[in-house]
Amino acid sequence: APVQVKKICCIGAGYVGGPTCAVIALKCPHIQVTIVDLNKARVDAWNSPDFAVPIYEPGLVDVVKQCRGRNLFFSTDVDKAILEADLIFVSVNTPTKKSGVGAGFAADLNYVESATRRIAAVATSSKIVVEKSTVPCRTAESMRTILEANSRPGTRFDILSNPEFLAEGTAIADLFKPDRVLIGSLQTTEGKEACRALADVYANWVPQERILTVGLWSSELSKLAANAMLAQRISSINALSAICEATGANIDEVSHAVGFDSRIGPKFLRASVGFGGSCFQKDILNLVYLSESLHLPQVAAYWRQVVEMNEYQKSRFSKTVVDTLFNTITGKHIAVLGFAFKADTGDTRESAAISLIRDFLSERAFVTIVHSALEACTQKEAIIIATEWKEFLEIDWQTVYANMSKPAFVFDGRLLIDADKLRKIGFKVKVIGRGE
Ligand code: NAD
Ligand code: UGA
Repeated sequence: APVQVKKICCIGAGYVGGPTCAVIALKCPHIQVTIVDLNKARVDAWNSPDFAVPIYEPGLVDVVKQCRGRNLFFSTDVDKAILEADLIFVSVNTPTKKSGVGAGFAADLNYVESATRRIAAVATSSKIVVEKSTVPCRTAESMRTILEANSRPGTRFDILSNPEFLAEGTAIADLFKPDRVLIGSLQTTEGKEACRALADVYANWVPQERILTVGLWSSELSKLAANAMLAQRISSINALSAICEATGANIDEVSHAVGFDSRIGPKFLRASVGFGGSCFQKDILNLVYLSESLHLPQVAAYWRQVVEMNEYQKSRFSKTVVDTLFNTITGKHIAVLGFAFKADTGDTRESAAISLIRDFLSERAFVTIVHSALEACTQKEAIIIATEWKEFLEIDWQTVYANMSKPAFVFDGRLLIDADKLRKIGFKVKVIGRGE
């Protein structure tokens, strides 16, 4: 008989596991959802009486408030949650390996493997095990081998791939109304049944036509492909921003004109100081490693260039700052506005701001940490806009100008400010992708 999911366990209470499974709990009041993690401080934060949840994500607290204690639970008791669940999401981290074979490129699958081994060791009944983490193509096969080699008689494991496409900062909106939900399974009767059981969970709020079911390997690869192609758009537009700066063309106008082509589309064409975040670089490097292991060096080189262009964009921006400040920033005080890798998130993993600040410090400039933009800008020689927080649109530039050393420089790495308005006040302004 087709499985009906009644209890879900999610291993990993991070940026993906937390919001994703909180939304499942909200949309499926008939399903009990338990999110577990080995990190006690993180679990405690999810359970905090005043809802001081461990990640900043608009709308998230609201969701947790509605379901926590009802059908949503956070716990460090991994074994108990595994034991009780019919379906288990593996939503643990898969960082880039730091040492050993594939160091700097390959995904570290150690966390996925230990979670999988835990499932095998603990389960006394059949489970659907779902890869939620972003993993290299064919990881599901390794998971299956581990599970089958360790399972008790009479228990079977069906493995699904169900990659997550949410973006931080808009996670709740993305989960409420996903462009698509992707589920990969083996094309066996059991595989398809497991796939149906998970599709039924999503069908509680996602329209049928947005739930795509494919083979396991296609599903795994589609996740890497989507991130690689998204990042490629940014690197393409950033490469063009360098041409704009050298020629007097304006990258905003170019993006707009190019994006009007319905085949290209307007989204994700915003020039920037470089993409950051925990996933784009990691997933592309993972794809590069995969290509190399498959003896496809040209394919590997193609994708590697997306990351190289991003590194170039970041260092090019730092260099513009140094060049403009009369070729030296030694001893100068610089305000960097924004540290997160994009607006509306507290996440700073791989943020471009980190690279910039490292560059400034290596030139022996001063960068300090303060709580308000106004305070940051006081008595500085230059202001760098590194994250596009709305708050920075409301800065009182007249006051900032009055309190800065002159000439007062502003470098906009996010196409955020009205450069002409600032120039009228007296600022010297440089905007990424603008020749003036
Ligand atoms: P994260 O580091 O925020 O969360 C992972 C959590 O898993 C951590 O809290 C860790 O303590 C826990 N964990 C690790 N091993 C465990 C184990 N054996 N048992 C119990 N808990 C364990 O990571 P994240 O940002 O949520 O990313 C998770 C996965 O999702 C990654 O593969 C990532 O590529 C992918 N992903 C992330 C995003 C994103 O926006 N962050 C979006 C889509 C996909
Ligand atoms: C990205 C993808 O958008 C998600 O679909 C995917 O699920 C996720 O990676 C993942 O796998 O982790 P995320 O990194 O959270 O999501 O945020 P994005 O909005 O994609 O932004 C990534 C970086 O690109 C940010 O630094 C952002 O500022 C930059 N960016 C984005 C640009 O520079 N220009 C743009 O036009 C868009």
